[in-house]
Amino acid sequence: MPGMGRAANFERPFVPALYDLDVRVTSRLVWGTSVAEQARFAAAVIGGATGPVLEVPVGTGLVTRKALRASGRRSAGSAARLAGCRERRSGDPEGAAGVGAPVHRLSGAVGGVRRAAASDAPLLVAVDLSAAVLRRARRRLGDQAVYVRADVAHLPFRAEAFHAVHSGNGFHLFPEPAAAATELARTARPDSPVAITTWTDQGRWLARRVQRLLARVDAVNRPRSAAEHIRTFAEAGLRQQSAQLGGTVLRWSGRRAPN
Ligand SMILES: C[S@@+](CC[C@H](N)C(=O)[O-])C[C@H]1O[C@@H](n2cnc3c(N)ncnc32)[C@H](O)[C@@H]1O
Repeated sequence: MPGMGRAANFERPFVPALYDLDVRVTSRLVWGTSVAEQARFAAAVIGGATGPVLEVPVGTGLVTRKALRASGRRSAGSAARLAGCRERRSGDPEGAAGVGAPVHRLSGAVGGVRRAAASDAPLLVAVDLSAAVLRRARRRLGDQAVYVRADVAHLPFRAEAFHAVHSGNGFHLFPEPAAAATELARTARPDSPVAITTWTDQGRWLARRVQRLLARVDAVNRPRSAAEHIRTFAEAGLRQQSAQLGGTVLRWSGRRAPN
């Protein structure tokens, strides 16, 4: 897929598996916040939703799986299976459960999930630009989500499709943070909850040093302050409710501005 930017790093052999290992080891030691803490933060948004939830970037699904467990959320995928409408290997003109995705694409296959929105359980739409991490997420989360390979700056969903949005550890990688924030705001329903985590230029010396090295080889953006991130979210139409630092990681939660 052309124009993959930094997501291309996650396509390399063994990187998704190494990423899982790395996240478990470095989250607390280097970045100053644990996977469990991030999952609890995500769970507050994912678990409370009464309609489709956007998760971008889902990565390998490590945090998402913990968040689903922590929220005790019954998945739309399970409901879809119960209703006999699992993933099909054919185009779905109705779109992925009404969120406006024409189809979801993974490893060359084209599939759609039909009628999942007809169930009571909210649909989790897991988006990432890397097919390799999406495959790993699918192995981990199975039918608890539908998987869409897409660029966060050009989401293939209709406006106001989602009742909640979670973006974990993406904004320090996304090449166009303002475009990404605008897409989150566009696809979220007015006044719906949005939760974002991202690295900042604060925190431990080691975290700041590692970040600068990664930025030097263009693996991540130049470190941005929490205030810079917050301004980007506000300019996109996301209204802050709380912003906290856990080590290097900004935990921002708020709502999409009402119309
Ligand atoms: C650090 S991982 C975070 C994954 C997961 N949310 C977590 O916290 O473990 C960053 C992810 O962003 C994805 N990514 C990078 N650029 C992207 C883009 N423009 N659009 C969508 N996903 C992107 C990468 O493929 C990678 O899976």
